[in-house]
Amino acid sequence: MRKAIIAGNWKMNKTPDEAKALVTDLIPWVKDAACDMVVCVPAVCFQAVKEAVRGTNIHLGAQNVHFAEKGAYTGELSAEMLRAVGVEYVIIGHSERRQYFGETDITVNKRVRAAVRGGLTPIVCVGEKKDEREAGYTDAIVEYQTRMALTGLSADEVKNIVIAYEPVWAIGTGLTATDGQANETIGVIRRAVARLYGEDTAAAVRIQYGGSMNPGNVKGLMAQPEIDGGLIGGASLKAPDFTQVVLFDR
Ligand code: PGA
Repeated sequence: MRKAIIAGNWKMNKTPDEAKALVTDLIPWVKDAACDMVVCVPAVCFQAVKEAVRGTNIHLGAQNVHFAEKGAYTGELSAEMLRAVGVEYVIIGHSERRQYFGETDITVNKRVRAAVRGGLTPIVCVGEKKDEREAGYTDAIVEYQTRMALTGLSADEVKNIVIAYEPVWAIGTGLTATDGQANETIGVIRRAVARLYGEDTAAAVRIQYGGSMNPGNVKGLMAQPEIDGGLIGGASLKAPDFTQVVLFDR
């Protein structure tokens, strides 16, 4: 069976000192968590968080990666650079990057390939907007985004990545997909993976739900058979809330 994976997406929050304080709070509470645990922090916090989590069950993640190995890309970071400071996971194609920073399905795919080849585990985000769901396009959108994101990867590479289904209308809004909606759409994503890479790969790949996941709704969502974890924004910024999400099985 797939091991659950809960990742915090801190977005543009926390200075290094604040980051260190947050993970230091978290460590004792989550030390017996049954799931894999990642905190995707701002780049300026990598070092502080890496030192604080050394020897614990918390893994370090980034929020973006460039697709080139090096070169004239002002402001960007390569997979090799991220690996060098202890980053293991990287969020790619978050809807905020698609909305505000011109991220497209093509650049998402380039970043996913660079991450995998560079030894990072991508957490690739897909998800429909509100009007797309209302018009009945959800399945088509997530299937298309999934196919695009995975282009050029082998089945073995796909088995080891993480996909996050994040309906855009549920991110930071307090609106959550119902347990059934999240389960159903993640099933659509898994069947898309199966058509491309076969049943074994689809059965292995972990697919998270993200969008206003919190201590109040985590149990219901995690009880769904297709949902393998969560990508947590707001609730990952408070140690008690993130702890309750991570310990969803208690
Ligand atoms: P949220 O964010 O939990 O604050 O809705 C989730 C995300 O953007 O990954």
